[in-house]
Amino acid sequence: MFSLQSVCLYLFILSSLVSGFTHPGLLVSDADIVRIKAKISARKNPWQASWDKLVALEYSQPSYTDNAVASVHRGTVDGVAGNADLLWHDAAAAFNLALRWKIEGSVTCAETASNILGAWGRTLTSLEVSDDQYLTAGLQGYQLVNAAELLRDYAPFESSGNAQYFIAMFEKIFLAKNLFFLNHQAPSEHNVRHFFANWELCNMASAMAYGIYTDNVTIYDFAVDYFKAGDGNGAINNAISNLVSETGTSATLGQPQEAGRDQGHTGLDFQLFGVVAQQAWNQGDDLYGYNSSRILLGAEYYARYNLGNDVPFEPYTNGIVSYTAVSPASRGAIRPTWELLYAHYVQIKGLDAPWTELYKNHTIESMGGFEGGAGSWGEGSGHYDGLGWGSLLYHLDVADVPAVSSTVPAVSSTVPAVSFTLPSSHSTTTSDLPSPSRTASRIVQSKEPATVASVSKSVPVEPQATKSEETSRTSTLLASHLVSGVHPTLGPALHTSCQPPITKTVYQLPTTIIVYD
Ligand SMILES: *[C@@H]1O[C@H](CO)[C@@H](O)[C@H](O)[C@H]1NC(C)=O
Ligand SMILES: *[C@@H]1O[C@H](CO)[C@@H](O)[C@H](O)[C@H]1NC(C)=O
Ligand SMILES: *[C@@H]1O[C@H](CO)[C@@H](O)[C@H](O)[C@H]1NC(C)=O
Repeated sequence: MFSLQSVCLYLFILSSLVSGFTHPGLLVSDADIVRIKAKISARKNPWQASWDKLVALEYSQPSYTDNAVASVHRGTVDGVAGNADLLWHDAAAAFNLALRWKIEGSVTCAETASNILGAWGRTLTSLEVSDDQYLTAGLQGYQLVNAAELLRDYAPFESSGNAQYFIAMFEKIFLAKNLFFLNHQAPSEHNVRHFFANWELCNMASAMAYGIYTDNVTIYDFAVDYFKAGDGNGAINNAISNLVSETGTSATLGQPQEAGRDQGHTGLDFQLFGVVAQQAWNQGDDLYGYNSSRILLGAEYYARYNLGNDVPFEPYTNGIVSYTAVSPASRGAIRPTWELLYAHYVQIKGLDAPWTELYKNHTIESMGGFEGGAGSWGEGSGHYDGLGWGSLLYHLDVADVPAVSSTVPAVSSTVPAVSFTLPSSHSTTTSDLPSPSRTASRIVQSKEPATVASVSKSVPVEPQATKSEETSRTSTLLASHLVSGVHPTLGPALHTSCQPPITKTVYQLPTTIIVYD
């Protein structure tokens, strides 16, 4: 005889074998929820203070009503002012309310979050036609899916049809653009390094989130492979474009692709690295550790410079922009992401990350004792590029570390404790090996070689990562079936939109909060 329990266990194991994905498994895991509940019931800070702030926000109330519209655009289009704040407010609200569902079990919060996602699913039909559409598709894309992932165990999300409307809309409006963009099919991509790293990172984060949420191995693998060896600036070896030696210690630091541009956007890269790496980590893939923890090498560079210290700078060009020095513009920019990076590298991995620790402390201090979240620490798009709440979601006491480490399948124990002070010739760590567990078939379509002329070959940025055969196959995942009919018609003046004017520049250490998109 089989007990009901053993049948359920069997079905559970079977379904995990089929999909291989862990749920919830994006920015928040079950282990995180268990820990947060315990901290809050013990009224411990910084969790309690973060939580109090979250539940007091207008964007966390069960009475919140959605602002869904048919068309979203960040900038002014045909004289109509940008309205993307409607979407980023709602994405923040859906996530905050979904967190309340998971942490306090509030059904009314879950219902409101479900209705927000359902309303956008039923209403949204287009993002704008300028390149800014890809920022919305990436940034708000991963945020919406993160909210949906937390509602997976709220049955009415599906029985109401909200989930289905959301998925259908997302696939057409967001995912299609994420894939189109990362496949360099946008007209402005005649040079595949056209867009700064943050543009690609948010699109990777969105596609990856959706792949996990819908148990789609093909999409998930595409995002992971792009991170490892894509040819645009978001791929990690391009996003941290140069390895340089720290004066005095000769520790290796990673020069970020946007470091010569300004620090606000560079800070956004670290916010998005956190999203991409954490989502993959919760699926057992260690992108944090990829290529000698290249994200950390970059974080150390960023933190050192933004705390007022010098850094070496290698001349950088991608054929469109050229930089010969690190940019002081928006130096000291603050974004909530450092709790996550610190907890991961220092506490979970046991690595040495002195500048990251200092920047984490600086960020927390600047934000008033804990990292804020979307809706809690200011208005304007930059305050909504990330969902935040790092002190609630990721802060760990020493005693919490084993539980977090043990809930992550396999990888955490096999990653050697690589010090961030690496010699410039890098050995390959186990984390560089292809993920062993994904076996589902992949979509393989050949992509035409660069279809547009004038790819500048004369100014190589840095040696390209050698692509594994697997990567070069999966990196060409095309989404033409999804994007047919929505091919953007770009106007001639839009090619510079990835480089908005940097006029808000203020260099004010240590506490002013500066945010850039
Ligand atoms: C996964 O996504 C790809 C690309 O969008 C799609 O072609 C494929 O049908 C999806 N697979 C499943 C199992 O849904
Ligand atoms: C960072 O802040 C924590 C908590 O206040 C403190 O214990 C630690 O020493 C600080 N780290 C550094 C490097 O100052
Ligand atoms: C790691 O980084 C080095 C130096 O930039 C690069 O040559 C190498 O191809 C990278 N390896 C992987 C596996 O990405």
